[in-house]
Amino acid sequence: MMDAGRHPKIKLFAYSEVERISGYVGNFTVRVRKKARYVDETACTACGDCAKVCPVVVPNEFDIGLGSRKAIYIPFPQAVPSAYVIDHAHCLGDVPIACGKCREACDKKCIDFDQHDQIITLDVGAIIVATGLDVFDPSALDEYGYTRYKNVVTSLEFERLIDAGGPTGGHFVRPSDRQQPRRVGFIQCVGSRTLSGNDDLSRGRPYCSNICCMNTVKDSLLLKDHYPETDISVFYMDIRAFGKGFEDLYRRSREAGVKYIRGLPGEIVEDEATGNLMVTVDNTTQGRTERHELDLVVLSIGLVPPAEQAHVKQLLTLSQTDEGFFLEAHPKLKPVDTPTRGVFLAGCAEGPKDIKDSVTQASAAAARAQIVLNADKLRVEAITAWVDPTVCTGCGLCAKVCPYGAILADSKTKAKAQVMEAKCAGCGACAAECRFDAITMRHFPDAALMAQVEAALAENPEHKIVTFACNWCSYAGADYAGVSRMQYPPNARIIRTMCSGRVDEDLIVRAFQLGAPVVLVSGCHYADCHYINANRWTQKRVDRLWDRLERKGIRPERLQLEWISAAEGAKFATVMREVERIRQSVTMEEIEWARRVLAEEK
Ligand code: FES
Repeated sequence: MMDAGRHPKIKLFAYSEVERISGYVGNFTVRVRKKARYVDETACTACGDCAKVCPVVVPNEFDIGLGSRKAIYIPFPQAVPSAYVIDHAHCLGDVPIACGKCREACDKKCIDFDQHDQIITLDVGAIIVATGLDVFDPSALDEYGYTRYKNVVTSLEFERLIDAGGPTGGHFVRPSDRQQPRRVGFIQCVGSRTLSGNDDLSRGRPYCSNICCMNTVKDSLLLKDHYPETDISVFYMDIRAFGKGFEDLYRRSREAGVKYIRGLPGEIVEDEATGNLMVTVDNTTQGRTERHELDLVVLSIGLVPPAEQAHVKQLLTLSQTDEGFFLEAHPKLKPVDTPTRGVFLAGCAEGPKDIKDSVTQASAAAARAQIVLNADKLRVEAITAWVDPTVCTGCGLCAKVCPYGAILADSKTKAKAQVMEAKCAGCGACAAECRFDAITMRHFPDAALMAQVEAALAENPEHKIVTFACNWCSYAGADYAGVSRMQYPPNARIIRTMCSGRVDEDLIVRAFQLGAPVVLVSGCHYADCHYINANRWTQKRVDRLWDRLERKGIRPERLQLEWISAAEGAKFATVMREVERIRQSVTMEEIEWARRVLAEEK
């Protein structure tokens, strides 16, 4: 951080917030709010005279409330710039007429109560998102008694308790009586690898948080190093020590006498008189229930995406996984790119990872950004949208559906839509949604897709299954089924589109007009669409079509929608067999009826 702060080509905006981002790869404009610190950061020498006289004492967030700070403070010891900041909410906010003691104490005259937020506009070519992480809050896990029992702490609180710069000056004491704990237990996977249903996130997340096992192994060695007589027990499901040198560290911890007990405690009960904790656990290695009396329990809490992630997602039109981390453009081939070109990911913004992996990914992201910055010309997608101004009515629907904000249109002024090609990724959602057929996808026009539908149904249409598959997931899933020699009906006629969002209603209706008994639209799983969320429009469009078919007396079942990933070859084969079963149930009368009523509609 200090190196970054001193680097001549890096400008650090600490205590600042990005408010708006516009533009596209190579040409972003970023609006930053640099918040007022009420201290001149260039003049402040961090002597601390101001904090000594400040009468306001509040819990220190960096010490997770285990210590205190003043209303004028340095957020954390290694903060860059190393300058004081006034906590507006506790000084000027709560006491409108500031006491001014800090200003009197400051020889350098750095304190300025009249400072205002500054708005800074930056022109940048590439953006790296490194929004970091939050930790899981275990308060809802009643069985562990966190916040109810003083001597149950989280792994983050443990770090502060044992840190030489922490609230206890590195003297490891337990919170209830400030005595050194002799028996310490670590409980692993708190808030991680929890299958409690998708909606109940208060009990934890389904994924492995990646760092907790090795963090506990490291902490156990640290404790043994500082206090060799400490009796340490680690309660775990399984220890994941897969990194370079990690297994060795784990072995050293066991050799140092740390007891690893396979089983997660079901309950912690506090002895009110002593503050000691009785931990009940099923030891699955020994096959018996054990009770351990401990002085301190450390909950090894998992990692969660920060709450602000949703705001950043909106600023940059990114997509998130179900767990809330940012989705990379491709998990194997573009692991640091995002679907928005010129925007890259580093660290836990993309998923839980340790320091080494974060540094590796950050280096990769910086290298990817350099490619953009050093290019004389940037390549754009060959398949981009083109608006025919003679047909466009300026309704603005295309701009609404574009996941990248690549279309400029205004339904109020009825200005003709304009595509920013550098921003367009070629999903085709706009072309599919345009009611006036004013939008053409270059190299992938409607006419080409229509010709494929017509060719697929040219002979014996009643035997065919017209299948639209998105390039990135379902088409790859079909491919996977094929190379894995999974059997699926040979009468499937697969038409590839870049995204399921590209499948125009007209293509589906045309298939029914030509006698298709059944049509399948398939795409990536909801959060996995390669084009941020273009498949949201697929769902809406198919919903609309189901209603339309029903109104016309056509079984909606004849139009199927499935989300199939590239790895789900087996699912693709199963879906195709099910669709074939539906096809066989469709009578010639039904086919004729659909042909007739849909033809009349035109
Ligand atoms: Fe597969 Fe959008 S890319 S559905």
